Amino acid sequence: MKYAIITGASRGLGASAAQHMLAEGIHVISVSRKENSSLKQAAEKAGAGYTHHSCDLSSDVQFQSVLTAIASDIFKNAETVYVINNAGVIEPIEVAGELDASLVQTNVQVNLTAPILISNLFLQKAKETGTRVIITNVTSGAAERPIQGWSIYCSTKAAVNMFTMTAGLELESNGSSSKVIAFSPGIMDTDMQVTIRSSSEESFADVNTFRNYKESGSLRSPDTVAGALVKLVLAENLENGKIYKVNDLL
Ligand SMILES: NC(=O)c1ccc[n+]([C@@H]2O[C@H](COP(=O)([O-])OP(=O)(O)OC[C@H]3O[C@@H](n4cnc5c(N)ncnc54)[C@H](OP(=O)(O)O)[C@@H]3O)[C@@H](O)[C@H]2O)c1
Repeated sequence: MKYAIITGASRGLGASAAQHMLAEGIHVISVSRKENSSLKQAAEKAGAGYTHHSCDLSSDVQFQSVLTAIASDIFKNAETVYVINNAGVIEPIEVAGELDASLVQTNVQVNLTAPILISNLFLQKAKETGTRVIITNVTSGAAERPIQGWSIYCSTKAAVNMFTMTAGLELESNGSSSKVIAFSPGIMDTDMQVTIRSSSEESFADVNTFRNYKESGSLRSPDTVAGALVKLVLAENLENGKIYKVNDLL
């Protein structure tokens, strides 16, 4: 049995990735605060399994109970487990010195702590049960360059890249059949871009550039990007620890 655990499958890239996984006949386990009802219909149409778990990934208590339950359930009969650590938040969009502490903590929990702890749990289960686990951490070009107003987002995505490269190196050294990669999706037409465009110039110096991306039709559809992502992770030749970029795949 093949499973795909996708965080943030309620909308945007995660919802499209779930649709593509279901079309491949893979059982999708969605983890987000809200459920996307179209996934259930897509699963029925494809004859694939689908389960949703409501979970706020910024809550330690919810995270522990939901992810532990998923792991103990699926590793009983899994052959391959795909994990897509996709859930993400851009806020706080604000210059350092004006950051809201609670938004900083939520960003670190959702963008960084959750992918690390999910990877840790699933790699532990993979070792115990001899199951192959393929983990994809969704990152951003913002991991590689400073963007004014995005200090927390740039920092958490940069740390996700370093975690991916390090864990990938360890798996490679151990001769494991499991893989950890990162995937940089480029700019997509999702709710995250709506949040970015609604920022003020005082908080986000480049806001007009991002407004122009929308007006000029430069944002890719999440369906196109998710197609490339799912094709990548289902391929057999993934390079452990590599940061894959959508522009090199389309
Ligand atoms: N859009 C872009 O241009 C762009 C560019 C580069 C990288 N990325 C990355 O791509 C990934 C997907 O982005 P997107 O544009 O599809 O974002 P989006 O449309 O804003 O969707 C974000 C997803 O994350 C989930 N999420 C947010 N906070 C959560 C929480 N506390 N607990 C559980 N789930 C939570 C949301 O689900 P609920 O609200 O239902 O919880 C939603 O499904 C992110 O990692 C993002 O950083 C996006």
